[in-house]
Amino acid sequence: MIAYEEKVAVVTGAGGTLCSVIAEDLARKGAKVVLVGRTREKLEKVAAAIAAAGGVCRIEPGDVTDEAAVADIAVRVEAEWGPCRFLINGAGGNNVKAMPTRLRFCEKDLCASASLRENNDLPADRGFFDIDMEAFKSVLEINTLGTVIPSRIFGLQMAKAGGGAILNFASMNTYRPLTRVAPYAMSKAAIASWTMFFAQYMAPAKVRVNAVAPGFMVNERSRAYLMTPDGGLSARGEQVMHHTPMGRFGEAEDLLGCVNWLLDDSASAFVTGITVPVDGGFLASAGV
Ligand SMILES: NC(=O)c1ccc[n+]([C@@H]2O[C@H](COP(=O)([O-])OP(=O)(O)OC[C@H]3O[C@@H](n4cnc5c(N)ncnc54)[C@H](OP(=O)(O)O)[C@@H]3O)[C@@H](O)[C@H]2O)c1
Repeated sequence: MIAYEEKVAVVTGAGGTLCSVIAEDLARKGAKVVLVGRTREKLEKVAAAIAAAGGVCRIEPGDVTDEAAVADIAVRVEAEWGPCRFLINGAGGNNVKAMPTRLRFCEKDLCASASLRENNDLPADRGFFDIDMEAFKSVLEINTLGTVIPSRIFGLQMAKAGGGAILNFASMNTYRPLTRVAPYAMSKAAIASWTMFFAQYMAPAKVRVNAVAPGFMVNERSRAYLMTPDGGLSARGEQVMHHTPMGRFGEAEDLLGCVNWLLDDSASAFVTGITVPVDGGFLASAGV
């Protein structure tokens, strides 16, 4: 079993569905884990679980799109714990205001600006031309710069200390955009590109950079559109299941084998710049 031997692992989005489990696993395997996210209470819950299992962690609330805030965290962590050795860029997400409710252009789109003028909020039935551009930009920002900024700051720390490994979060949207999530899909496609770029750049510094592309794993946000209130499948959930040969949604634990492999300097010593799907066969399926 891989052991992280008190090395420092920074996990962004550590209060979330997937990275809380990854943070707990890293701590169980001996890493000193830095929990980063905007909401202190979410991080405290994860910290309590880590402490209860005898692990070591610290809470560093902060917004990963805020360069000064991330730099402050990096300085504090290095001074008190030493340099970051592993960076898990899990912070990310979508925004319903950047999502149309309609899948295709139709006659109603021709009235888009009128409907926006009449509604301070988004219309319940909205096309692409109704969506909020500020929300669109915020989704691009969290999913792209929210990975680039910590990578620059902690990547340099790793290079100065002699090496490290960075893990980014791609998505099924990296390969083909799902309907209704344009900025999320654009930004997750960008993650694969950024992973390749930064892997090439950092190879001489012995910093490996890879990404995992989770399939459909139910989190607080996706529960609303994948499931019905009574725990059944929504229409979109049915579509996903129809395209998933393994016939179930993924669990955070399904990622651990891939995550540990990509962080392990012996098991994946010659692996950098790749994006690995962990998707129950979703990408392999044409759905027909
Ligand atoms: N679940 C899936 O099916 C799935 C599939 C493919 C890819 N992914 C990707 O995997 C990653 C983790 O997903 P998840 O399901 O665990 O999502 P999640 O439960 O929503 O967790 C994401 C975490 O990121 C944090 N976050 C968001 N914006 C942030 C910011 N600006 N600064 C710092 N922290 C921020 C959030 O906490 P705060 O709001 O408190 O900051 C949240 O706890 C994401 O990148 C997601 O896009 C998920």
